Amino acid sequence: MKKIILTGDRPTGRLHVGHYVGSLRRRVELQNSGEYDEIHIMIADAQALTDNADNPEKVKANISEVALDYLSCGLDPEKTNLLVQSYISELTELTFYYSNLVTVSRLQRNPTVKSEIQMRGFHSSIPVGFFTYPISQAADITAFKATTVPVGEDQLPMLEQAREIVRSFNSTYEEVLVEPQALLPENRICSRLPGTDGKAKMSKSLGNCIYLSDDPEDIRKKIMSMFTDPNHIRVEDPGSLEGNMVFIYLDAFCRDELFAEYLPEYQNLQEMKDHYTRGGLGDVKVKKFLYNVLMEELSPIQARRKELEKDVPAVMEILREGSIAAKEIAAKTLDEVKHAMRIDYFV
Ligand code: TRP
Repeated sequence: MKKIILTGDRPTGRLHVGHYVGSLRRRVELQNSGEYDEIHIMIADAQALTDNADNPEKVKANISEVALDYLSCGLDPEKTNLLVQSYISELTELTFYYSNLVTVSRLQRNPTVKSEIQMRGFHSSIPVGFFTYPISQAADITAFKATTVPVGEDQLPMLEQAREIVRSFNSTYEEVLVEPQALLPENRICSRLPGTDGKAKMSKSLGNCIYLSDDPEDIRKKIMSMFTDPNHIRVEDPGSLEGNMVFIYLDAFCRDELFAEYLPEYQNLQEMKDHYTRGGLGDVKVKKFLYNVLMEELSPIQARRKELEKDVPAVMEILREGSIAAKEIAAKTLDEVKHAMRIDYFV
């Protein structure tokens, strides 16, 4: 069986370093591993509209922003198909047919939907489109017969629901759809990098994100004001690593080789952590090191982005071509689905 990846992002903002360690970095590795027959990455604009119906301009503006982030991180359109969800109208047809196989109570039990409803304050005025987006996400995945879906932990309930839909479809009609597997980030820190303020989630509204495309000066300021250990007042005080954002970010980004270049008094992160917990290592020094570590990773990405930004129409053309290719694949799956459902009267 072919190995096929599908994953995606909602275009509601530029991508930040949480996206980077949680998924982008991994996607580039998967792309370059040569182990997959197809890789599709979707800018999920239709899904973004399920809770941004009144803000289409935001979604539109972020299509090219997200594409720029993808390309500058190293996703290569020669190897990875980049597509825009709304162009593939077959996905909405699949969603409609799959909805017959899903109960309202099953959707109500989806923990991700539950917590998003709370976070967005929808209460009892939940848009139907939003409520049913797990079905549409199952369509995204199955249209491409994806075997592997690299996602963060928060998306596991979506995957579970997609798998249920596949099983239900295949047993009710015919074996057409493929059951996808989730591929989680390598560790917990990468799975959910907290905001710079120590709050559990990076979110634009909390102003605690470091964006991939942030100005280096802004990144420096954001790092300098990061939440550390409030009891670590003087340099000689012992410091705590618990909930200390600077060390959490170092866990996600630091490579031992970087000590030789930027802080040769330590060989590795463990030595630095030990010194910090013993006392005698000040926050400013750790923060400056983190800045260097982060910029080591982000500088090449930012340089590529600057180049790509000079020709945004060329970036949109990549998305257009990717979407056309994706539509062909989805159309084929839809034909098979309709055939299995006995609604192929005229072919
Ligand atoms: N729900 C995902 C997110 O919020 C985006 C997404 C849409 C997706 N369709 C998908 C992810 C299909 C994986 C597979 O980030």
